[in-house]
Order: sequence, then C-alpha cells, then structure tokens
Amino acid sequence: MKGIILAGGAGTRLRPLTKVTSKQLLPIYNKPMIFYPLETLLTAGIKDILVIVAPDHAGDFLKLLGSGNEFGCKFTYEIQDKPDGLAQAFVIGKNFIGSDNVTLILGDNVFEDNFSAAISSFQSGARVFAKEVPDPQRFGVVEFDANKKAISIEEKPKQPKSSFAVTGLYIYDNTVVPKAASLQPSSRGELEITDLNNVYLHEGTLDVAPVRGRWLDTGTFESLHEAIEFARERELAKTV
Ligand code: TTP
Repeated sequence: MKGIILAGGAGTRLRPLTKVTSKQLLPIYNKPMIFYPLETLLTAGIKDILVIVAPDHAGDFLKLLGSGNEFGCKFTYEIQDKPDGLAQAFVIGKNFIGSDNVTLILGDNVFEDNFSAAISSFQSGARVFAKEVPDPQRFGVVEFDANKKAISIEEKPKQPKSSFAVTGLYIYDNTVVPKAASLQPSSRGELEITDLNNVYLHEGTLDVAPVRGRWLDTGTFESLHEAIEFARERELAKTV
C-alpha cells in the first residue's frame, strides 16, 4: 500500500493567511497542518508517500519534510500545476503508484481515528469513510439504504439526501489509475473524487465505513479554529 498526501489547492477561503504560504503549512497548535495527515498515514503503516503540492510554496514543503528519514518514511514529490481536482492525484501519481494499491489523504484533514485495520484488511475495490456532519452540502454526501449500503454519492448537493459526508481519506485498488484517467472534468472544471467513487459504486466495489472519533477538515476559519482546539486538548491530555 502506497500513500499520497494531496497538499496543493488554492486555500482561497483562508485568505489572507494563505497569501504568502500554503494552507497545509499553517500551524494547528504546535505542528504544521500537514503533519496530521502524515501521522495518520504513518500510524497506518504507510511508509512510501507521494506529497503533491502547488508550485508556489513547493520549496517550503521540501524544507519541512525532507527525504522522510526523520519520519521513518520515504517521500516523493510532485507538483500539481493548477488545482484541477482531487482525482487528478491519481493522474499525477501514476508512476509513483505503479502496480500497488494506494491510500489518498487530503493535506488539510485531521483524523482522530486509526486506519491501520481498514488499510491492512483492504483487498480490492475502494473503501471510503463517512461521518455525520451538520453542514453536508459542503462535502460529497453519501446516501445509505435500510441495510446501511451506500446507494448514491453526490458532490456538494444543495439538497443533501443524508447528513453523511465522505471524509478525506480514500483507499483504492490499482484500477484507480485507469479510472481516474478516464474521468471528464465536472462543470466546475475539476476531476472530482466523487465521480471516481461513483465509478466504484456503480461497479459494486465501493465500501463505505464509518469514521470513529473526530474528523476536521480545516479549510475554513471556523474549522481551523476547531482543529487547533482539538489538537491542543489532545496534546495537553498527554501531559496529565
Ligand atoms: P479544498 O479545501 O476543496 O480546496 P482548497 O484547499 O483549494 O481551498 P479553497 O476551497 O478555500 O480555495 O481542498 C481540499 C484539499 O485538497 C486541500 O488540502 C487542498 C487539496 N487540493 C489539491 O491539492 N488539489 C486540488 O486540485 C484541490 C481541489 C484540492
């Protein structure tokens, strides 16, 4: 299993914080944001990691993360020229992925959960993780039938069919590479991860599991603030 941290994007909702640096380099309490998704991958046993960054602050990521020696892993870097969508990670990452399975994590997502078991038991298809949220229209929304089986996923729906958001950690088998390559850009011009997940859903190979514990996507001032409070509480709890 290989890992990808997607840490490009424009971070427009966090301006002016993101005017001179990248969102994923901003502090969440005592660590840069990207350390949180990195720790999630490392804890899950993933040691071969591609970091995808935007061109503007690529050098800062290299300076912060280096070769990976310090973290007991190996980093590879790629540039995403424009924020053309989450699913582009598998187009950019084609050579890195080779013939392996891959876990993608978004560089601005903070998870309390431990994904070791979900990753080590993964065999084929796709496995994504859903969490009940108060504002599902901001996310990919998954609808379940009476047997808790996923029956639809919609990207940022105005009228969400449930309050379950698809979170920013996705496990895929190697067919993700050709599947991502065959996607067409959406009306907003992006290769959508929701479209990719729908390919697996229609194929009958998409597994949607619950996320345990807190999940924070730190793309807005409110969620960034919440993540900082969460990280601080967790850090202080370690010292008592
Ligand atoms: P978003 O929060 O959806 O986008 P953004 O970071 O560009 O922020 P904003 O909407 O405020 O402009 O992205 C989620 C994560 O995915 C984040 O870590 C950035 C990353 N990302 C990419 O690396 N490339 C992309 O093309 C997109 C859309 C996002």
